[in-house]
Amino acid sequence: MPVAQREVAVRHELLDRLADARTNTDRLFDLVKPEFLYDRPIPERHRIVFYVGHLEAFDWNLLRERAIGVETFHPEFDRLFAFGIDPVGGGLPTDLPKDWPAVSDVREYVAGVRHALDEGLEAGMLSETLREFPLSLLLQVAIEHRLMHAETLTYMLHQLPLDRKTPPQLKPELVLGPGMPAIIEIPAGRATLGLRREDPSSFGWDNEYEENTVEVPAFSIDQFPITNQQYLEFLTAGGYENPDFWSREGWDWKSKNNISHPGFWRNHTGVWYFAGMFEEVPLPMDCPVYVSHAEASAYARWAGKSLPTEAQWHRAAYGTPEGNERPYPWGTEAPSQTRGNFDFQRWDPTPVGAFPEGQSAFGVMDLLGNGWEWTSTLFSPFPGFEPFPFYRGYSADFFDNKHFVMKGGSARTAACMLRRSFRNWFQPHYPHVYAGFRCVSH
Ligand code: AVJ
Ligand code: FE
Repeated sequence: MPVAQREVAVRHELLDRLADARTNTDRLFDLVKPEFLYDRPIPERHRIVFYVGHLEAFDWNLLRERAIGVETFHPEFDRLFAFGIDPVGGGLPTDLPKDWPAVSDVREYVAGVRHALDEGLEAGMLSETLREFPLSLLLQVAIEHRLMHAETLTYMLHQLPLDRKTPPQLKPELVLGPGMPAIIEIPAGRATLGLRREDPSSFGWDNEYEENTVEVPAFSIDQFPITNQQYLEFLTAGGYENPDFWSREGWDWKSKNNISHPGFWRNHTGVWYFAGMFEEVPLPMDCPVYVSHAEASAYARWAGKSLPTEAQWHRAAYGTPEGNERPYPWGTEAPSQTRGNFDFQRWDPTPVGAFPEGQSAFGVMDLLGNGWEWTSTLFSPFPGFEPFPFYRGYSADFFDNKHFVMKGGSARTAACMLRRSFRNWFQPHYPHVYAGFRCVSH
């Protein structure tokens, strides 16, 4: 196929992916009973209705001038819905439902944006003239931005009381149990992080560049993520009552907020339950525990271990005894259902070890999917980092030594973001992420 024709094919494929991503997020909003769209399930975040507008405003602000060149029809909404990220440290938002437009107006805006974008993109498909950025790059940004919100919106809807949402048909869960928790020795070797800018074959966000290699000394790592069972042992041993295991900030956070167990756990008359997306179930002992970075670090210190660095995690996931590295823990094949609990197959975690086909060359399991994994690495730029000129703050606003790198993915992470170089990040006290951890020792 000639280059120009191939470009057009690529863009059509991207438009299909954008349409799929829209379906995905539309379905999420449909889970909320309409009278609760002005709820704020997480106190630090916007009300749900903000996100209905945000996903479209983002695409529109990104693509309108740069890719289509038409006038906007609603500058007020373009601004109102432009940004929606957690404040660091500050107070809680105090806006009221009546401060927000009617959801019917927001939906009208959404429909208008989609119509204008789709028309403009279809017309602009064939030409690359006067374009400062490749259209395919901007489309990838729109698609992955939306898919990331498909995950973070789910964290938010997870916190919405069960009687305010309509569950979809639930799939029966896998019941395969794990083996005994094992420790795996990883010999010294190289870990390649990031992407090469000259390699145009795959999309990456600004923080994934430049490629860099790290020589990692030998270490050992848990074969599985820490399970609810293991974490319960820490809790029962008084882990939440002993400041020795906690950093100063972690202890202060825990005390100030009266935290005495993981945010996804509930205790009814002495019995532990897991608050799933659509139902509460007896605590599934063989599933990975979801905790904040502060809680994960406390467990690790109690166990006499530490959280892996980003490079150690890479080494365990993508390294091989032969010394070469793989694009995925299991090899080169694209992610599929048998490799792990990811890509919207389920809402909640599965027992660790249920996906042996997803294991790494060293036999480490559950690396991609089933919960992000906290690392001990502060989120910071790789050497050669450049912000996207059309979205300067995406990563750079978070290089503040207040966010930690997470690797892997959760049940609600889209397959495209399971690439090796993808880096996620959150504040250490954010308790709503589908994230757990495993430990290393030296
Ligand atoms: C990369 C998931 C940390 O949700 O805070 C969405 C993604 N940035 N809109 C976030 C994001 C702007 C971001 N994370
Ligand atoms: Fe966003």
